[in-house]
Amino acid sequence: MTMTNSQTGWDVLIDAAWQAREHAYAPYSRFRVGAAVHCADGSIYGGCNIENVSYGLTNCAERTAMFQAVANGANEFHRMVICADTPEPIAPCGACRQVMVELAPQMEVLLINKEGKQIFTTVEKLMPYSFSDFPQQTENDEGDV
Ligand code: THU
Repeated sequence: MTMTNSQTGWDVLIDAAWQAREHAYAPYSRFRVGAAVHCADGSIYGGCNIENVSYGLTNCAERTAMFQAVANGANEFHRMVICADTPEPIAPCGACRQVMVELAPQMEVLLINKEGKQIFTTVEKLMPYSFSDFPQQTENDEGDV
């Protein structure tokens, strides 16, 4: 059976992502991104990209949303929506994928654009073979740092 967005509960999250995008601080790229996460406790947190004149300090919308959630006590994420006004839905950058693996390895992800194009994916698919466990050191601890 094909489920509509409202049946599966994505609609509220989509609205939250577009709403969060309104707060984007992107004076350098002029590229506005929104994101929203749905947490296991039912809460929803939005995020936008926040740029800096020292470009590398920019925080993407996805990480803003996840950090916002963690800072408010949510620690289990079910779903994320990522939105931008682009011909095709945009995909999260590598840094955000790494944070998703850490905080939300089971999360479903919906990428959308203004025309309503949608791509459903998961963190597992976005970030295969990831660095997600702190490896045990195999050599003698002493000496090397
Ligand atoms: N950006 C995001 O917020 N999320 C993405 O998935 C891709 C890129 C932001 C970072 C920067 O502010 C602007 O988009 C251009 O890269």
